[in-house]
Amino acid sequence: MARIAPFHVMVLLARARALEAEGRSIIHMEIGEPDFPTPRPVCEAGIRALEKGELFYTPALGLPELREAIARYYVTRYGVEVAAGRIVVTSGSSGALLLAMGVLVDPGSEVLVSDPGYPANRHFVRLLNGEPVSVPVGPDSKYQLTPELVEHYWTERTVAALVATPSNPTGTVIDPVSLAQMARFLALRNGALIVDEIYHGLVYEGDLTTALGLEGNVFVINSFSKYFNMTGWRLGWMVAPEGYIGELDKLAQNVYLCAPAPAQRAAMAAFQPATLAILDQRRDEFRARRDYLVPALRALGFGIPQVPQGAFYVYANCSRHTKDSYGFALDLLERAGVAITPGIDFGSHRAAEHVRFAYTNSLDRLQEGVARIARFLGT
Ligand SMILES: Cc1ncc(COP(=O)(O)O)c(C=O)c1O
Repeated sequence: MARIAPFHVMVLLARARALEAEGRSIIHMEIGEPDFPTPRPVCEAGIRALEKGELFYTPALGLPELREAIARYYVTRYGVEVAAGRIVVTSGSSGALLLAMGVLVDPGSEVLVSDPGYPANRHFVRLLNGEPVSVPVGPDSKYQLTPELVEHYWTERTVAALVATPSNPTGTVIDPVSLAQMARFLALRNGALIVDEIYHGLVYEGDLTTALGLEGNVFVINSFSKYFNMTGWRLGWMVAPEGYIGELDKLAQNVYLCAPAPAQRAAMAAFQPATLAILDQRRDEFRARRDYLVPALRALGFGIPQVPQGAFYVYANCSRHTKDSYGFALDLLERAGVAITPGIDFGSHRAAEHVRFAYTNSLDRLQEGVARIARFLGT
């Protein structure tokens, strides 16, 4: 437990809520979830499940009809066929990441992750007595692992490399050629590639292809949290290689029995055209926010060498203003009433020089946030 860190942003969030309780106005740019409510058709499907009392345990791998619906989604969204039997419905993508690590990691196994990156990943590995290997990445590789980095950090103990595309905290996307090369290298070494596609659907330039279909042991992780606006329902999924499904079933049964039944029934409505139309409109709203925020932050002296192509984050270098991004975030909250996330939440590589802005707030509020930051900086 000593090697598992909390999410530092929670301290800031608690302080922000305390200030709000005292009557202060706070602009939230720290929160990693969409500000939009769950689309109505999904809520209605959830309500129907509650009214009908469909609230029993489901199979550990998920409701068969939801697994089928997810398989169909891969066909309509990406034109990729996948057997529903390879889909594991989980409690958030967090559940999927833990299960994937559970079947791959033995004590001492190494898993390559990017620094900066989503912090829970290294903690899942630690929980299993594995060794997360944090690979420092920067703007030159779009803050992502590359085939060269994977090869460089590979040892005989490495079992997997994990990437998120688009990523948290940087919103950057791995180019498909690079991802395919990574998959080939891992396949040759008998290693697994875990691709976290949780921010798919929230991509603002071009369209993404899924990592499904790349060679080797590829685990594709996804979630209803972000694009589908269903964070609190705690539902995600994984497409795993066929040979792991039995082990994953066993592990899911033991760890949490099944993902929440009402959430699974509600999610049956997530792929309906009416829901997708709502979600795509919201994606366009996120794009408009990004298009406002990136130049506005650059004008205030924040370094953003890579324009985020997806998710709802801007990872910015704040070294023109501070050498201590955590202190900076605390100060900005106290004095200007703007909450952001310090780099330390995403690793240690140049963390004190970076902060993450989340555009999970309306354009008006973001504009007010930027105006407050400008006053705070005296620009
Ligand atoms: C990259 C990434 N993966 C996984 C998660 C976990 O999300 P959930 O468990 O809600 O699917 C998050 C949450 O912020 C994330 O940013």
